[in-house]
Amino acid sequence: MKPARTEIISRLQLQARVEELGRQLTREYRGRQLVLLGVLNGAFIFTADLCRMIDLDLEIDFIRVTSYGASTESSGTIRLLKEPSIDLAGKDVLLVEDIVDTGTTMAWLQEHFRQSPARSVRICSLIDKKERRKVPVDVDYIGFSLDKGFLVGYGLDCAEQYRNLPAIYALD
Ligand code: IMP
Ligand code: MG
Repeated sequence: MKPARTEIISRLQLQARVEELGRQLTREYRGRQLVLLGVLNGAFIFTADLCRMIDLDLEIDFIRVTSYGASTESSGTIRLLKEPSIDLAGKDVLLVEDIVDTGTTMAWLQEHFRQSPARSVRICSLIDKKERRKVPVDVDYIGFSLDKGFLVGYGLDCAEQYRNLPAIYALD
């Protein structure tokens, strides 16, 4: 049986916040060669919604890192399973992530892409779970700051389930 769930961020709240982020990014990346790098699989819906709220010419690609598998705790070992296919030289890369939790994944990715020929590398995360941070990482754009709970929906999964839910829920 699936665990009970509580709605944490509604569909309308998601829509409004993604729109705001899109407006902010439109202002801040004007005149730049923006590349959105969505982190698969969790950020696929956020990336799709966010890119349509940015009124600029931009490129979109996805990367993939090793995931938690069926567990709700990070294993701490990161590997890139899919590199970007776009040439990043001289471009302004925005890593688009679903959740920064312990920070392990994003700190690793930020370091990895800092060594690329990109002009800049920033992070946009839909959710920041600051209280669980173990590795320091500066998240440049944050959709929502939350403290705890295992979240699902709007791309976020628990053992590959729930990604299609249109709002964000905490599993009880
Ligand atoms: P970190 O390396 O601990 O920061 O973990 C980041 C990754 O773990 C995110 O990209 C998410 O995919 C996943 N993750 C962390 N917390 C949650 C959650 O509450 N629900 C679903 N996935 C999560
Ligand atoms: Mg993720």
